[in-house]
Amino acid sequence: PAGTLVDKYGRRISYVRLSITDRCDFRCTYCMAEEMTFLPRDEVMSLEECLRVATVFVGLGVNKLRITGGEPLVRKDAMWLIERLGTLPGLDNLVLTTNGSQLDRFATPLRAAGVKRLNVSLDTLRTDRFKAITRIGDIKKVFSGIEAVRAAGFKRTKLNTVMMRGTNDDEFVDLVRYAVDNELDISFIEEMPLGEIHGRSNTYISSEETRDKLAEYFELIPSTESSGGPARYWRIPGSESRIGFISPHSHNFCDTCNRVRVTAKGELYPCLGQNDAANLMQVLRADNSEEGLRQAIVDSMGIKPLGHDFTQQMDSPQVVRFMSMTGG
Ligand code: GTP
Ligand code: 5AD
Ligand code: SF4
Repeated sequence: PAGTLVDKYGRRISYVRLSITDRCDFRCTYCMAEEMTFLPRDEVMSLEECLRVATVFVGLGVNKLRITGGEPLVRKDAMWLIERLGTLPGLDNLVLTTNGSQLDRFATPLRAAGVKRLNVSLDTLRTDRFKAITRIGDIKKVFSGIEAVRAAGFKRTKLNTVMMRGTNDDEFVDLVRYAVDNELDISFIEEMPLGEIHGRSNTYISSEETRDKLAEYFELIPSTESSGGPARYWRIPGSESRIGFISPHSHNFCDTCNRVRVTAKGELYPCLGQNDAANLMQVLRADNSEEGLRQAIVDSMGIKPLGHDFTQQMDSPQVVRFMSMTGG
């Protein structure tokens, strides 16, 4: 029907992930190459352009928008955009994924702007490991940021933990305890190979292996809940925390995919795990009317593939762009 987005396999697209910057104040080893250069300013969508894109998507029936990066909160004047998105009629579910570094400052304004929920990346609880994974991050800022989020009134904040053998696989039980103690959800994520990252080795761990390990310490009850995302959830009796697993390798969720992503460069990627994209920037800058943009978005449904074909080939990934370009 008019006013909705449906791809050629009949999947309804109701969820957009909008990356508002490729920059980040961390350099996580699974996300960026050490020597990373960022996009020049004129190649990045202005905040007004981001708002135009979001508004057209909402007009096409999208009701969930996740702001991502890079690190979205390092984008200058990010709150200008987020405040406007927070009042967009029809957008029920405005959420954000962050590395947590800026939450001391932003937790309260984000809540005031109408952001519903936050996902915060946290792969380890240990200072030395955090430094090794993020190369330049400060874990104390993330802990105080998570505290600020709770104080600001956010509920069910979710931790994202990328599972890496030999790096954090002896900490999964501690991370679940931390989540339970702090009334957080947690998702364990199978690492995806995106972008050529020199020296990246195969540290893949399946969700199943992690779940089996956790089951030695916690009673895990399967849950049918869904956040409208790829995670499958389990619960621990006596706790509100949900333990999620995002398993692109071992349990492909592409057949129920409901999302597309737009990079800070204004490229619409219908699939995280493929290289095809539609260039919205060209349309944004050629045309001030929304009709062209609307048509380009509708047309992009024709290039949404059935699914990704990630392998665990960490050294020669078939997806050439880095995770920091699409924000997941
Ligand atoms: P919810 O909206 O709460 O379900 O969020 P989410 O867990 O999908 O989003 P988040 O930004 O926290 O991302 C968690 C992980 O899911 C990251 O590793 C993302 O790259 C991954 N992810 C999100 N969407 C997709 C997708 O469409 N395909 C694949 N393969 N991974 C995805
Ligand atoms: N594989 C899986 N997840 C990743 N993330 C970043 N890079 C990767 C990767 N290569 C996760 C981060 C963040 C989310 C947006 O994506 O942990 O929480
Ligand atoms: Fe930054 Fe997130 Fe990528 Fe880490 S995973 S470098 S925090 S964008």
